[in-house]
Amino acid sequence: MKIYYGGHSSFMIENGEFTVLIDPFMLSEDMKKASPSIIALTHGHGDHIGNAAEISIKKKAPILAVFELANYFAEKGCETIDGHIGGKIKFDFGYVKFVNSLHGNSSPEGRYTGNPCGFIVDMNGIRVYHAGDTGLFGDMALIAEQTPVDVFLCPIGDKYTMGPEDALKAVSLVRPKVVVPMHFNTFDLIAQDAEDFKEKVEGLGIGVTAVVMSKGDVLNYPM
Ligand code: NI
Ligand code: MN
Repeated sequence: MKIYYGGHSSFMIENGEFTVLIDPFMLSEDMKKASPSIIALTHGHGDHIGNAAEISIKKKAPILAVFELANYFAEKGCETIDGHIGGKIKFDFGYVKFVNSLHGNSSPEGRYTGNPCGFIVDMNGIRVYHAGDTGLFGDMALIAEQTPVDVFLCPIGDKYTMGPEDALKAVSLVRPKVVVPMHFNTFDLIAQDAEDFKEKVEGLGIGVTAVVMSKGDVLNYPM
């Protein structure tokens, strides 16, 4: 599996056959060239959907989102796959499961677009947990108990999501093999020291490796 980072909360996960693009607000050159199989959106805020409608139509990639947000994109002419918190959408590669997140969810015009969410992407049995925009919640442990997590994509920016202290607690609840911090340094308001976060994660002594990615980086997993 390869995990590409576009910056902010934008990732692309692929196994050579299927490509899942998540929250494509920013794209690396590799991501611009790719043909995603699906585009999964955690919520409707502008710093997550980016040009998702345009990409979806141009690349013929359906938008996967909660019911209300999927309807918003269907009205824009996109093919959509809807579901809701707790549900799994099955694919040949595995599944994408909707899990809860603590945040808001509206379109750039201010329209209500349902609950925000995170995703568990299971690709050939390797699981990536993209937490979306969220505060810390104890059920992260329950999510990971149901679906043990290999790679945890975790916001650390503070102000609109968990900050580094709460993200550190989230790592201890989820107990992934690898954590990748996201949703920081895109704007001054969410400036954080990711290297310091990495040190603290590894200082937990629970066998979690922190990988700090920059736009354009690719993580090969298993590492
Ligand atoms: Ni948001
Ligand atoms: Mn955000």
